[in-house]
Amino acid sequence: MTHHRSAWRNRWTFMLATAGSAIGLGNIWKLPYMIGVNGGSAFVLVFIGCIFFVGIPLMMTEILLGRRAQKNPLNGIETLAIEANASRHWKYLGGMGMITGLLILSFYSVIGGWVLSFIGAAASGNFVGMDGTQSTANFNQLLASPLTLLFWHTVFMIMTMGVVARGVNSGLEKANNILIPALFAILLILLGYSMSVGDMSASFRFMFSPDFSKITPVAVLSALGHAFFSLSLGMGSVMVYGSYLQRDVSIARATIYIALADTLLGLLIGLAIYALVFANQLAPNAGPGLIFQTLPIAFGQMPSGSLIATLFFTLVAFAAWTSAISLVEPTIAWVVENTEISRKVATTILGLIIWLIGISVVFSFNEWQNVTIIFGLNIFDTLDKLTSTILLPLGGLLIAIFAGYFMKNSHVQEELNLHQWSFKVWVLMNNVIAPIGIIGVFLYLFKIIQ
Ligand code: PFF
Repeated sequence: MTHHRSAWRNRWTFMLATAGSAIGLGNIWKLPYMIGVNGGSAFVLVFIGCIFFVGIPLMMTEILLGRRAQKNPLNGIETLAIEANASRHWKYLGGMGMITGLLILSFYSVIGGWVLSFIGAAASGNFVGMDGTQSTANFNQLLASPLTLLFWHTVFMIMTMGVVARGVNSGLEKANNILIPALFAILLILLGYSMSVGDMSASFRFMFSPDFSKITPVAVLSALGHAFFSLSLGMGSVMVYGSYLQRDVSIARATIYIALADTLLGLLIGLAIYALVFANQLAPNAGPGLIFQTLPIAFGQMPSGSLIATLFFTLVAFAAWTSAISLVEPTIAWVVENTEISRKVATTILGLIIWLIGISVVFSFNEWQNVTIIFGLNIFDTLDKLTSTILLPLGGLLIAIFAGYFMKNSHVQEELNLHQWSFKVWVLMNNVIAPIGIIGVFLYLFKIIQ
């Protein structure tokens, strides 16, 4: 069956779309609280290492697989496996990625809903004059109301599926061009403010003073998982975006820009948040509610705070939205390229399934708080840990092995088009360093579980 495949208009739209996928709640909501939960600088150091030694090479790999295959991840990997005379079963790797994306979206959308509800709260001036206790109470009140959470989860899902139904590169391209630079700009305002009223030196020490004794195996595991989550790797999102990419774009250069922007944004937000945490005697290890409890205090004290807060949460919602879209795109591309089902119908059915799983996540923050699935983790934690620390790194490992040991080097090089020595560096990272790192972390995981 042949279908018309769309393509990005130019190199910038690809870069911005992929950056839009990478930059999202992972940077703004998840990274800051994970830093706090995992002991600060120890986690940051390992996270940066994982981005450079595993994330960047594997992002290049995913883009090159997508661009060579020009298909959705499942059929794409199958085509490449045939080209490489390898088993067609490799295609299930694409299938695993699709399921991972759907599971991630089921909780991503609930957190996206928190952000949406904060836009309204900011605009109506609720944060003005808030202190730490009030801010925590305000957030706990939101979590305690399943109906409110469900409402905003529903709105977020409708927003996401609305764009996916129309095709990712119709409306999204233009939006990204403005939103990502705007997000950086507002972040700088926040950072400037945190610097003036917060405790920036404590924040800097907390995040960057090297203290190797604090590096625990759990921190390493979480950092690796988060490197995948943050760069949208290991499940085919970047691969499907790469499949819409023109041939004349340098994959290495695009990857480095995207990875640097993504990492920088996350770390800057972390700095801003911890400056506020330490100045207001809040707990650095507050967990998933961290930014929702700290930022209202800052916005509540700032001149024109309500306006800036509204703008900030709106931009965060957009960032979450562009990432959410990329979580479903691999599956939708697969359905559309293999069946007669239209994009709209496929999107509606899939949206409903994810929405339903999301309802269980909503309840895991209140009524079902104590319902545990495995290892004493509630529904949200189970979905989060299963995807970030297992499925994404496993997907990444298999992608690296497939490209490094099954595809012909000459085919890989045709896509990467690197100088000889840079190609050797990529081979070393993709074939040796990244797989050994991931396997090492997995072996450790098995040891803790036993
Ligand atoms: N990278 C996104 C973020 O940091 O918020 C989340 C994400 C999107 C993860 C797409 C995985 C993915 F495939």
